[in-house]
Amino acid sequence: MAIMTQVATPSSLDAAAADAEFYLPADAFFRANLPTALTFDDVSLATLHSEILPKSADTATSLSESLRLHIPIISSDMDTVTESRMAIAMALNGGLGLIHYNMPAKEQVKEVARVKRHIHGLIQDPISVGPDLFIGDILAMIEAKRFSFSTFPVVDAAGRLAGLLSGNVVKERYKSKRVSEVMTPRAALITETAAAAAQDPISAADRFFTANVGINKMLVVDPDDRLRGLITASDVERITTEAKARRKPARDAHFRLVVGAALSPIRLPDGTLDREKILAHVGNLVDESIDAVAVSTAHGHTAGVGDMVKLVRAAFPDLTIIAGNVTSAAGTEFLADCGANAIKIGQGPGSICTTRIVAGVGIPQLTALYVASTAAKKKGVKLLADGGITKSGDIVKALTLADAVICGGILAGCREAPGEIMEISGKVYKQYRGMGSLSAMKAGSAARYGHDKNDTARKVTAEGIEALKEVSGSLDDTIDNLIGGVQSGMGYLGAATLPALRAKARYIRVSPAGQKEAAPHDVIEVSTRKN
Ligand code: XMP
Repeated sequence: MAIMTQVATPSSLDAAAADAEFYLPADAFFRANLPTALTFDDVSLATLHSEILPKSADTATSLSESLRLHIPIISSDMDTVTESRMAIAMALNGGLGLIHYNMPAKEQVKEVARVKRHIHGLIQDPISVGPDLFIGDILAMIEAKRFSFSTFPVVDAAGRLAGLLSGNVVKERYKSKRVSEVMTPRAALITETAAAAAQDPISAADRFFTANVGINKMLVVDPDDRLRGLITASDVERITTEAKARRKPARDAHFRLVVGAALSPIRLPDGTLDREKILAHVGNLVDESIDAVAVSTAHGHTAGVGDMVKLVRAAFPDLTIIAGNVTSAAGTEFLADCGANAIKIGQGPGSICTTRIVAGVGIPQLTALYVASTAAKKKGVKLLADGGITKSGDIVKALTLADAVICGGILAGCREAPGEIMEISGKVYKQYRGMGSLSAMKAGSAARYGHDKNDTARKVTAEGIEALKEVSGSLDDTIDNLIGGVQSGMGYLGAATLPALRAKARYIRVSPAGQKEAAPHDVIEVSTRKN
């Protein structure tokens, strides 16, 4: 018996039905491709009618109810990617940096403090000095704490404003003089009241500096003359300029830049979590007004990571917690139930990862994101696509399933990334290494737990490599290119916002020939624009 199959011919299909048959939304597309798992280059996104100009596409996202970003890019918590300099640059660009944990806990707290104090609206806890110190002490403190400023309010033992120590006198030649001898005394200072500055500190400071010609520090005091804050004229100018700039910095409710930090599950010798140490460290980070902590591990669907998330959630109910990494719906649900706000997805997609080779596990990233997204939707948690991003198009694809991306390699060549620049055969490079590489594991264990180098790498099989990245200039330029690409993608899909991008995305598989077609081909390239 002949089997008749009814095939829709182009003439029998209307345009919308033809598109719907070929370009599938996520639910249908990832199922249709089973049992194959897909990653960025395996797929392309179908374009749609658009009334959106790329430059007007809104890239804002959030990691929790309290943590909003203007761009959906997070710099990875790796020791060759994010320390305070990178985190400051990321936040100034509207994103977030996660300070890595391969350093002593105290140092990580200081790194967070550097970001929070970088550009301030109202600096609520300005670094002050006592009147009895010597200028030599102040110079030593500036050196030890790597402060980039040298003007300090002077506060007496009772916490009252005693004067202002100007940077002009913080000099070697005055090192044996006492602060009280060279400071501008309280009686000569013009200050502002906390009540007047409370509503809108920047506008208040703007008026203050206009009215008081030549003064460039506004000290804020309460009715008892206790120092309550400080605003500098240069910060006001920078903040006002930023407000006019295309991208806005990501700030907290007190105008400070946002920052996150990675936490490692510190353990006691018997293998259980060192609860006291973990909570003390998170407490110190919270005291510095940290915006998010990330429980960062290679395998997040484990009792240990779950316990750690629960522990932090119970002690800090309002803190934004990122946890991972997982690649399954069950893993996502598990971390959400433990109390995480945002779940990191990615096992083995990273440019320096060898997990899939070494352990034989991991899921190509887009399928992992899709599977995780089914649980994230139900649980109301955010998803972060962690690893494998090599170009802006990958970010667009990731954002069809996730709320933000975490990038390592693509940012590691920027001058804001930690590490020395080295020159090899006329080209300049920076080190970039996996956190599971032997050298990073040794650095982490040695610095953090005070172990001997030789017993640090009990996990002797590395799951990451050490590599070099060509130096790629400033983070500003890199982010400009990446966000430009993201906005182009949103324009092609007619998506004014990232939720609209997620709702509108339709996918198609790309063959090896299609991948070849997607990159420049059959030409001699004379210049490359990196995005
Ligand atoms: P990209 O592709 O942006 O990836 O360079 C950065 C992400 O890779 C993860 N990571 C590792 N994964 N072994 C791994 O399997 C490692 O040594 C390693 N170090 C980092 C991490 O999620 C990071 O954000």
